[in-house]
Amino acid sequence: MPKKNIIRKSEVTKLSDNETIQCCIDGQACPLQVSNLLKKRLFKNKNNFYLENFLTEQFIQLKAVLNQCINVGESNSVLVIGPRGSGKSKLVEKVLAELHNENVESFYYVYLSGIIHTDDKLSLQDMTRQLQLENVTKDKVFGSFSDNLAFVLEALKNGTAKSKSIVIVLDEFDCFASHKNQTLLYNLFDITMSQQNPMCVIGITCRLDVVELLEKRVKSRYSHRSILTFPAYDFSTYTDYFKQLLALPDSFDCPIFKYRWNTHVKDLFNSSNFNDILKKQFHITKHIGGIIQLLTMPICNLSYAHPFVTVDDIITSYNSLHADSKAFLMQGLAILELCLIVAAKHVQEKRIGQPFNFEMVYNEYENFSKSSLTGVHISKAVAMKAYEHLLTLELIRSTENQTGNSLAKEFKPMLLYVDASQIRETLANFTDCPTELKNWGDSMFVS
Ligand SMILES: Nc1ncnc2c1ncn2[C@@H]1O[C@H](COP(=O)(O)OP(=O)(O)OP(=O)(O)O)[C@@H](O)[C@H]1O
Ligand SMILES: [Mg+2]
Repeated sequence: MPKKNIIRKSEVTKLSDNETIQCCIDGQACPLQVSNLLKKRLFKNKNNFYLENFLTEQFIQLKAVLNQCINVGESNSVLVIGPRGSGKSKLVEKVLAELHNENVESFYYVYLSGIIHTDDKLSLQDMTRQLQLENVTKDKVFGSFSDNLAFVLEALKNGTAKSKSIVIVLDEFDCFASHKNQTLLYNLFDITMSQQNPMCVIGITCRLDVVELLEKRVKSRYSHRSILTFPAYDFSTYTDYFKQLLALPDSFDCPIFKYRWNTHVKDLFNSSNFNDILKKQFHITKHIGGIIQLLTMPICNLSYAHPFVTVDDIITSYNSLHADSKAFLMQGLAILELCLIVAAKHVQEKRIGQPFNFEMVYNEYENFSKSSLTGVHISKAVAMKAYEHLLTLELIRSTENQTGNSLAKEFKPMLLYVDASQIRETLANFTDCPTELKNWGDSMFVS
């Protein structure tokens, strides 16, 4: 039998001191509506949501280049370069949408992605399909790739009295540079240099050195115009973007839930724990993509029972995103192995970062065991086994290259690949960690 929905009775919520509004929606629908709305906004391509005051300069630059092409008929090429998640695709999408709204049917649009269109033939095929020219090219046999491309463009030219501009977006532009002879790039850039159809080629890439990947003849035809999308905003602007991404629009159905949600978001930003997490995230990555990653789990977990995003949700999401794999790995070590790690850290501190060997670590461990673990004696052979396990896990690594293994394994110079904070975290969370070991580990931080 289907489970009955729990429908809450209408309730009266006080919106402000002098205003009360009758709640119209049952408690089930609103959180799900918010979750769906935010999922569309954050995870779906080609949605209408665009952050205010985001990459404004870049937006103006790109729009000017495209305007020149669409309205004046001037061909051009431009590269949009920036790190992953910095909003390159969104920027191009927004400019094109705005131009389309301003002047419907003013240009043809072709989108190619280096990840999907892995060679020039595929790219041209899809270009033909997107320009709806399959019927024209169907029965033709072409001598070369550039003949085919020229024919496609010529067909477009002949199709209308005045040739319309073509905007070609090449996403993951660097991948196109690996195509044989870079023929597609050469031909497209060549057209932008000549007086043929007005065409604008927009390359999107995260590789700063992308121009170096181009062959000389291709490079000479590229306009060397580039738009950078590196995030240059400060923390307060970053917080503002975060707020915008979470805020519900005025068009949201239920004013009561909208009010509650927005109050909750406001409270979130007043919490010092939340701001600390946000700062940490900001220092790791400033991109909008990073904010979206942080919000993914909390948004997906919204439900009737858990209708708002809480500080704990954000902290859990942050911790799972930035989980320290080494600290996690160390949670599975045996006590002896952990002792050797702490011993190695002590030796490394004494030697001011110089490599250590097994003998030094074992001596350090013996000293500790004699003074603190009375009655416990671990033989060298057993300790060696544990030491070798640490080597397999790559928590310690030899400084020698593999071929130069002239030294006995006890004397091989090693370095510890775990830092003090990771050891501290492991000791703090380790189940049944002996107090002596904890104190020994903590003594590293007392200077
Ligand atoms: N101005 C914006 N308004 C709203 N959302 C944005 C904005 N800019 C970026 N985003 C969102 O951030 C995420 C990353 O943006 P986008 O895909 O444009 O980055 P990108 O630089 O193209 O990344 P990649 O190099 O991985 O393709 C997307 O989910 C996008 O919706
Ligand atoms: Mg992109």
